Amino acid sequence: YPPERIRNFSIIAHVDHGKSTLADRLLELTGTIKRGHGQPQYLDKLQVERERGITVKAQTATMFHKYNLQGSSLDGSNEPQPFLLNLIDTPGHVDFSYEVSRSLAACQGALLVVDAAQGVQAQTVANFYLAFESNLTIIPVINKIDQPTADPDRIKDQLKSMFDLEPSDCLLTSAKTGQGLEHVLPAVIERIPPPPGEGSGLLRMLLLDSYYDEYKGVICHVAVVDGMLRKGDKISAVATGQTYDVLDVGFMHPELTQTGVLLTGQVGYVVTGMRSTKEARIGDTLFHAKTIVKPLPGFKAARHMVFSGLFPADGSDFEALNHAIERLTCNDASVSVTKEIRSYIFQWQFVDRCGFLGLLHMDVFHQRLEQEYGTHIISTVPTVPYIFEYSDGSKVEVQNPAALPSNSKQRVTASWEPTVLATIIIPSEYVGPVITLCSERRGQQLEYSFIDSQRAFMKYRLPLREIVVDFYNELKSITSGYASFDYEDSEYQQADLVKLDILLNGQAVDAMATIVHNLKAQRMGRELVDKLKKFIDRQMFEIIIQAAIGSKVVARETISAMRKNVLAKCYGGDITRKRKLLEKQKEGKKRMKRVGSVDIPQEAFHQLLKVS
Ligand code: GTP
Repeated sequence: YPPERIRNFSIIAHVDHGKSTLADRLLELTGTIKRGHGQPQYLDKLQVERERGITVKAQTATMFHKYNLQGSSLDGSNEPQPFLLNLIDTPGHVDFSYEVSRSLAACQGALLVVDAAQGVQAQTVANFYLAFESNLTIIPVINKIDQPTADPDRIKDQLKSMFDLEPSDCLLTSAKTGQGLEHVLPAVIERIPPPPGEGSGLLRMLLLDSYYDEYKGVICHVAVVDGMLRKGDKISAVATGQTYDVLDVGFMHPELTQTGVLLTGQVGYVVTGMRSTKEARIGDTLFHAKTIVKPLPGFKAARHMVFSGLFPADGSDFEALNHAIERLTCNDASVSVTKEIRSYIFQWQFVDRCGFLGLLHMDVFHQRLEQEYGTHIISTVPTVPYIFEYSDGSKVEVQNPAALPSNSKQRVTASWEPTVLATIIIPSEYVGPVITLCSERRGQQLEYSFIDSQRAFMKYRLPLREIVVDFYNELKSITSGYASFDYEDSEYQQADLVKLDILLNGQAVDAMATIVHNLKAQRMGRELVDKLKKFIDRQMFEIIIQAAIGSKVVARETISAMRKNVLAKCYGGDITRKRKLLEKQKEGKKRMKRVGSVDIPQEAFHQLLKVS
């Protein structure tokens, strides 16, 4: 396949507009997978992706398709010619836009999928601009035209007015019924240019992604920009300076398919002797050892926006948790892990503190730890990276509230918090409640306009802290699920920040400390204390719960002493029933975390995450 017969493209869309379903249909259409193979959404491979119906990791599949493109035949015949199409699936959720830009770096074009009823949504806007800025050819696809509420003409108008995309260029499809799908691949081949690159030049490959396979070791996804790669070659990496033997090379079909060679413009996988994915720097340039090449422009590094510490829920198995985290981060390089030492049940322990791209990313990581590695975890209240200036003029980034001394008010002279630029698209009738929500979250309105007669478009600057906790859920609930939301990180702004400690019987609980805006500290302290009171059972002794800023207590509750008598409900003397209840109580205790002498159920930690 010479480059003229290769097309590298991506499918981008707002969550749920049908990317993965459309990708499946294209794979079926080209015979890459069998129709009705029994597993919906072939490219969504992770269990969490199937359960949540979202795409987290971008996947790649190579398809072969015959098509009669004018002038593409090398021998002048009028027969359909074979084309090699690399489809790169991308996640739609805001947290994973890093994956999107990474996928786009290997593409020359993108199918921009828009739901025929919902129309342009926040991630449609974000994804369009990512593709547009990368100079990709954009093919608008209005999907789900089978729905009774579909209104493709209205969507065409939106695409024209927002992105200047011509109505005549829009494809109309239903990935469900198959209607209109026959026009998709011809449009891909006709409109998207072949990959540029020097076939005869020195090898340059862009490292797109990597993951760890138990049998093969580290598998790198690459795009060959110039030259050719063969099995047995020696390659080097610009970032690390390391040299490796190419042990295996091929296509992702989507299963790994050995070809022994990758040519200019092709996207595929390479297995080298790398021992850890940490050696495979995403965005790095790979080249033939002993040649001199100009490194390819990489892409923006993932920025960690949300941090939280992870503890084992049963309080003992730190080693198993560490091991699971290590294995999982091998496959998800977008999670950062730092070890920190913390007091834990009267002893010092190394605790993993992880950085995530966003809240959903964090949730997904937790879920994968539990599902794929069978570990039960408690995570601390998520925090964002703040900057504090001390009286001696030094400035430090604080990701962990526990790292900030509790009497910090005397020593801190200024503090800054990260902000985001948020795009919100909503039906016009919800404008009022959304403005109220954003101002409660200390947002500043930057833009307010209408996409068409029914939909409003708003841009806000919001403190990141205010959106990481439950903002999206609240936005969805006040707009009956109609709001769409996307954000990009922006600059830091000065803010009056304080550390809010939670004390149980006078002992501060590291895992529950948060950094909050002074204006909100009192209310939040009250809410946290109330929540804890609700979720901590009475114990043999009195428990005093306090929220404090430095030495100032802002809220206090007491749980009076009493042992919960689980046998109270047992009438008569059925001994087996009694035993069962006692067993159950014991089981329940296992899921407790003990702080000082107070047992805290896991649920209490989860509830704390929801206070904002
Ligand atoms: P993410 O992977 O989370 O970004 O979502 P996605 O854009 O890949 O959407 P997905 O393919 O998972 O589809 C979302 C839902 O829409 C699924 O329930 C699909 O069955 C449904 N769907 C997809 N295409 C069509 C269509 O053409 N018509 C109808 N009626 N439903 C569709």
